Amino acid sequence: MIWIDQAVARRLTDLIRRLETARPSLAALRDALPARLGNTALFFREWMRGPGMVGAVCSSSRYLATEMAGLVPPGNGLVIELGAGTGMVTQALLDHGISPRRLIIVERSEGFVAHLRHRFPEATVIHGDAANLCELIPQGLPIAAIVSSLPLRSLPADQRTQIIAQWRQALSQDGSLIQFTYDIRPQTHTCASDHAFSVTHSRIVWANLPPARVLHARLSVRTDSLPNVLAVNQPADPSP
Ligand SMILES: C[S@@+](CC[C@H](N)C(=O)[O-])C[C@H]1O[C@@H](n2cnc3c(N)ncnc32)[C@H](O)[C@@H]1O
Repeated sequence: MIWIDQAVARRLTDLIRRLETARPSLAALRDALPARLGNTALFFREWMRGPGMVGAVCSSSRYLATEMAGLVPPGNGLVIELGAGTGMVTQALLDHGISPRRLIIVERSEGFVAHLRHRFPEATVIHGDAANLCELIPQGLPIAAIVSSLPLRSLPADQRTQIIAQWRQALSQDGSLIQFTYDIRPQTHTCASDHAFSVTHSRIVWANLPPARVLHARLSVRTDSLPNVLAVNQPADPSP
């Protein structure tokens, strides 16, 4: 039999009571973490949870983000940002003059979604999969641009095909598709006329880890075959 004197028993009881009352505040702290973590820590945590889905080892540099945002044409149509992560590109889009009312973000990671909603309360942040884009966004409104940081090359081929088919369906005929890739080789092969998208402009941003190529593409005149744009047929690697 274990003998505990009254003083020790009282202290133990007191400790247990304090731990019980602390539990809700610990839960609140854990819930608040995504909003309070620095971008790097948040990115690392989400990368640990799903390296293939995040597809990069750190968030985009502001140079890459600014290059992407600068390719969004002026106008009134909606701007859809896919895979916003920590919000580097989102911030650049707002800095570029895109009203948060025109901006719809689709992000699959719950942790990033919590962070984005906290950081950009005026933008619409949808927790969802870009493969279901047309079901997630408002119907009947013109989509002026899709700005994507999705890790296309590390996603399964069927998912990639589905995502690009959704772009083709959602984007206005004269809309812009903006995507970056860590494959910095010239992307001329993506301009073939039987592809759904044609690259109209591309530029390497060296000030990013690793350097990345930003592509601007438009719907091709012919849209009767599945698109092959943006390194769709290249081997999977952990990069967009
Ligand atoms: C390369 S990271 C984006 C980095 C971001 N530009 C930043 O600076 O933090 C790719 C992002 O795409 C998201 N993602 C991956 N697959 C997705 C999907 N099918 N639908 C929506 N988001 C997806 C990941 O959760 C991640 O946030």
